[in-house]
Amino acid sequence: MIRNDIAKAGLQKTLNTREEIGFSENVESWKESKAIFDEHSLRIENHPVMEDWEDGYMKHLAKVASLRQGRVLELGFGMGISAKYIQENPIKQHVIIEANNDVFDKLLEFKRNASIEVLPLKGFWQDITKDLEDESFDGILFDTYPLTKEEVHGNHFPFFSEAYRLLKPGGVFTYYSDEPENISDFHKEKLVLSGFSNINFELCEVEPPKNCEYWTHKTIVVPIIIK
Ligand SMILES: C[S@@+](CC[C@H](N)C(=O)[O-])C[C@H]1O[C@@H](n2cnc3c(N)ncnc32)[C@H](O)[C@@H]1O
Repeated sequence: MIRNDIAKAGLQKTLNTREEIGFSENVESWKESKAIFDEHSLRIENHPVMEDWEDGYMKHLAKVASLRQGRVLELGFGMGISAKYIQENPIKQHVIIEANNDVFDKLLEFKRNASIEVLPLKGFWQDITKDLEDESFDGILFDTYPLTKEEVHGNHFPFFSEAYRLLKPGGVFTYYSDEPENISDFHKEKLVLSGFSNINFELCEVEPPKNCEYWTHKTIVVPIIIK
């Protein structure tokens, strides 16, 4: 999404806010940084990483990622909201990658109480997914967080080609879209360049609180990308 489109879509405030909060020069510090959970949110390095008004959106993403049942890969555990909803589907195995140590501890607790097998993998997905087999997943849900200013609104793009490689034919990929109304040509082009041609979406209605630092719209796109 080019800068003008960002402004038009009302996302400019988000860009400034995240840039204002700033990013550590050493991305590795994210792993050790304290994760501050309260009843409604998760903050790391002062960033608003996750908030529970996204509950309905996470439920929708989880439904899409679990459409083919089987093995589901999730990237970014956060508050475990989408993970909880994925577990409500009759899938066979739930593989979850998480980089932050404190959040990973929550993931281990989640695994202990899960009814469907959870395989937790610790670290940045960039270091982990290359060791996962081609065409070994039926569904993928990608929801990490930008760790540099260059990744703001685009932290999912480098994963698109990995999603294509990891999905079985017919498998479904969804992700925190960062788009309010449709999949823009800019995003579509990135998906097509990564191998996808079956690109659809549904809209999810959301009600972010007025003080939300990263979302102001009443809808958000739920991508349904089939290999
Ligand atoms: C937005 S939260 C995920 C929210 C989650 N879907 C939920 O429902 O609660 C993003 C998570 O991704 C993790 N993360 C950020 N960058 C990552 C990376 N490169 N690899 C793995 N995990 C990452 C963060 O530590 C954080 O826990």
